[in-house]
Amino acid sequence: MKITLSVIKADIGGYVGHSSSHPDILAEAQRCLEKAKKSGLLIDFHVTRCGDDLQLIMTHEQGVENERVHKLCWDTFVSGTEVAKKLGLYGAGQDLLSDAFSGNVKGMGPGVAEMQFEERKSEPVIVFMADKTSAGAWNMPLYRTFADPFTTIGLVIAPNMHSGFSFEVHDVKETKKVTFSAPEEIYDMLVFIGAPSRYIVKAVYSREAGNIAAVTSTQKLSLIAGRYVGKDDPVCVVRCQGEFPAVGEVLEPFALPHLVEGWMRGSHHGPLMLVSIPQSNPSRFDGPPRVVAAGFQITGGKLVGPRDMFDDPSFDEARRQANRIAEYMRRHGPFEPHRLPLDEMEYTTMPQVSKKLRGRFVKLD
Ligand code: F6R
Ligand code: MG
Ligand code: MG
Repeated sequence: MKITLSVIKADIGGYVGHSSSHPDILAEAQRCLEKAKKSGLLIDFHVTRCGDDLQLIMTHEQGVENERVHKLCWDTFVSGTEVAKKLGLYGAGQDLLSDAFSGNVKGMGPGVAEMQFEERKSEPVIVFMADKTSAGAWNMPLYRTFADPFTTIGLVIAPNMHSGFSFEVHDVKETKKVTFSAPEEIYDMLVFIGAPSRYIVKAVYSREAGNIAAVTSTQKLSLIAGRYVGKDDPVCVVRCQGEFPAVGEVLEPFALPHLVEGWMRGSHHGPLMLVSIPQSNPSRFDGPPRVVAAGFQITGGKLVGPRDMFDDPSFDEARRQANRIAEYMRRHGPFEPHRLPLDEMEYTTMPQVSKKLRGRFVKLD
C-alpha cells in the first residue's frame, strides 16, 4: 500500500515568549485533524510540539504536496492562531507569512517534510523536530547516518546497505538541486553540505532499490519573507531498519551535540541538545537549540506510537556535554564564533550604527 507521511509544522504562538507551546493550541489542532480523519482525508495523525512549534504528523493516500492536506494544515494553523490570540500568546500567527492559502503551504511560512512510499511489512520511522535552529541542522546527522561507517556499521556489514545512499542537496539561495552518490562522491558532497546555511540535504535514497530513506524541511523563513521572522525550526523524517539504517544508527549522530545556527535571536551558534518531548522548552538564552525524536511503527497507514526516542538515560552524557558546550559558547558573549558572522545574523543594528558613526571613520595611513 502506497502511503504518504506528511509532517507540517509552524510556530503560531509561543508560551511563554518563544520557549514552549500552550496545551490549548495542541488541543485545537487535535480537534481539527480528528475531523479530517473522520472525513477520510487522513488515515491517521499525531499532534505534538517541539518548543514553540506545533507539529502535525499525518498519514494519508493523497501523495505529497496535496492541496487538500496542505489546506487542512493551513486552516489548522489559522484556527490555532485564533486560540493563540485569545490567550495573548507570544508571536501569535508568526509563521503564517501570507493572508490567504494558495494551493500549497510551501513558501507560506510553515515547514514541510513529506514522503510517499510503499509500506513495508513493518515500517519503523523516526520524526525529528528541532527548535531554535535552521534548516541545515540535519546535514551532519544525515551524513553520519547514511555515509559514515563510524556511525553506521550497516554500511560495512549489511549486504542490503553496502551499495550506499544518494543525497539530494538543495542550494536554497540559488534554488537549484544536485544529487551525490555516497560513498564515491563524499568529498565533493562535503564541500557543499559542510556549509549548511546554504546547501541543505533535502532527501536521501537507497541506491540498491532507489527507495526514499529520509526527507527534511528546507524552507528558509528569512528567504521566504525577505526579513527575519523567526528561525526555521526544521523537521526530518527517517525510515529505519532493513535496507535502511537501524533505529540506533539513525539516533547515534545526535549523541554529539553538534554546533548549529540559531539560539538567541537566531543569531548564534550553539549545541543541538537532544531531549525528550516534554523537555523541549528552550529557556537558557532562548536555548540551547533542541531536537526531539518521535518514533512510530506505521501499519496500514496507522501511526502506532509515538515513542519518545531521546527519553533514554543513555543520552544523558550527550545532554551534559551540550550543557558544557553551551556554557563555554555563552562566555563569548557578543563575540564570534558564538555570535554568527555579520551577514548571517537574523537581527542587526549595523546599518543604524554605521550611519551614526559615518563621519568618525577616517582613512588608515
Ligand atoms: C530565536 C527566537 C528567540 C527570539 C527572541 C527575541 O529563534 O525565537 O530567541 O528571537 O526571543 O524575540 P522577539 O524579537 O520576538 O522579541
Ligand atoms: Mg516563536
Ligand atoms: Mg520555534
